[in-house]
Amino acid sequence: MWTNLPRVLTLVVRGFALTLAVLTTVVVIRTLTFPSYQTSPPECKTTDPDFIPADEERLARFTSAIQFQTVSYERGVGTPQELLKFVRFIQESFPTIHSSPLVRREVVGNYSLLYRVEGSDGSLEPYMLASHLDVVPITQEASWEAPPFSGQVRDGYIYGRGTIDAKHSLMGSLEAVEFLLSRGHQPKRTLYLAFGHDEETGGHFGAKVIGDVLTERGEKIAFILDEGTPVGDGLMPGVSKPVAMVSVSEKGIVDVKLKVQAEGGHGSMPARKSAIGILARAVQKLEDNPHPSMFGTGPEARMLEYVATEMTLPYRMLASNLWLFSPLVAWVYAKKPQTNAFARTTTALTSFTAGVKDNVIAPEAEAVVDHRIHPMQTVEEVLEFDRKVIDDARVMLEVKGSLPPSPVSPHGKDSPTYTVLQETIQQIFPDALVTPTFMVANTDTRHYWNLSSAIYRFNPYVMTPSDLPRFHGLNERISVRNYERVMNFYYHLIVNMDKPLEVKRHGHEDEL
Ligand SMILES: *[C@@H]1O[C@H](CO)[C@@H](O)[C@H](O)[C@H]1NC(C)=O
Ligand SMILES: *[C@@H]1O[C@H](CO)[C@@H](O)[C@H](O)[C@H]1NC(C)=O
Repeated sequence: MWTNLPRVLTLVVRGFALTLAVLTTVVVIRTLTFPSYQTSPPECKTTDPDFIPADEERLARFTSAIQFQTVSYERGVGTPQELLKFVRFIQESFPTIHSSPLVRREVVGNYSLLYRVEGSDGSLEPYMLASHLDVVPITQEASWEAPPFSGQVRDGYIYGRGTIDAKHSLMGSLEAVEFLLSRGHQPKRTLYLAFGHDEETGGHFGAKVIGDVLTERGEKIAFILDEGTPVGDGLMPGVSKPVAMVSVSEKGIVDVKLKVQAEGGHGSMPARKSAIGILARAVQKLEDNPHPSMFGTGPEARMLEYVATEMTLPYRMLASNLWLFSPLVAWVYAKKPQTNAFARTTTALTSFTAGVKDNVIAPEAEAVVDHRIHPMQTVEEVLEFDRKVIDDARVMLEVKGSLPPSPVSPHGKDSPTYTVLQETIQQIFPDALVTPTFMVANTDTRHYWNLSSAIYRFNPYVMTPSDLPRFHGLNERISVRNYERVMNFYYHLIVNMDKPLEVKRHGHEDEL
């Protein structure tokens, strides 16, 4: 028998070599033949007769919009007087919209705005462009290069709170509709503009009411576009071109309260286990045992595949072969908080409360864990996992609040709405690639799920890594060039939505 050993070894080595050769061949072939998901529609040019320039008048309107201090502080606490002033300003600034017989304007929830622009073809389902009137509060006002509510223009940038979140899309979409109507055009397809007034604190009194009003009327919406992820320049490794990221989903949230009750008493005669000790062990287990990687199961994998053909090696090889390399990519993603958030449900220990006095054993301890749920998981699955990890009946779990991940909107060449969005983006940003992703934060669209199954979140401006801290941060600003793109993006989207929505097959995709 032992004499056979060399022969067996040879067979094993040969088998291994053969497998490796086959794998390598498949990887190479897929890398070379992976389909492109990009389109190249006619570019929007400044010389087009229907180009909307960021002229003095339009810039003045935008900078004035920034000057309204429409801050939301916390749920139900905002700046009603500023909102009313801003709403009046909008009414005065867009005379064609506000006098057109095609437009019906409603104030919803006292401050939010809902416009309906009547299309000429009633058989087409309407669509909706969403944004919001409110902004987040200012911090470190003294450190701003220009006062945060000045709307000052400096070196080609407009400074101020709301310039990228989200008065750009509010004013930009209004400019587009004003331009369209003042040229005497009626859209074929009816469109809504929906502007909530408390998005920054959950939209419970604005977008929520807009959603309810439209639901009550039985309105079905072909697609909804709200603020969201930008065109990232230098944000994705392995891609030199800018990448327009269209969010087709949003992570969910579950805040779990953990509670332990144990024997209290005097510090001089402790029992063996205290509430604090039991709870500390439980939260440590949660921190040490992250939720499983979901990389490869949701839009985060499509995000890589849709730009695979434009990546440099070795990224291109990895992205074209996620069937093999998913675990490797997941492992790399887990290393950084920013990418880890895309790979799994995250666990953040946000609060721990126990004890009142140095010599009294706390009879009770409480902690809060803030989970952000990956689109492919449910609230129940997250709780189930936590219970299993903690594995201690003395720790009681209670849901303080939760929002499931949003449904995933259709994307890819089989989706006419995604395709129209992609082509519009590539008209305005001809150098950019378009790819689906999901948001780790939430928008007003959480209140619109019942209106449409095709909900997208996208900001039509370019952001570099150094721009990211400006979001909700210091020196928020938008370049004049980017604001011009915003206006033209909405205009082109409106024009494109009047063409028949159909599936455009570019070939190849059946291969996947
Ligand atoms: C709207 O205004 C009315 C009357 O002032 C008030 O009773 C109501 O609470 C307000 N609603 C919201 C959502 O602010
Ligand atoms: C959607 O409709 C269901 C059933 O009427 C309701 O329970 C749910 O709250 C609605 N969701 C949203 C986001 O409005």
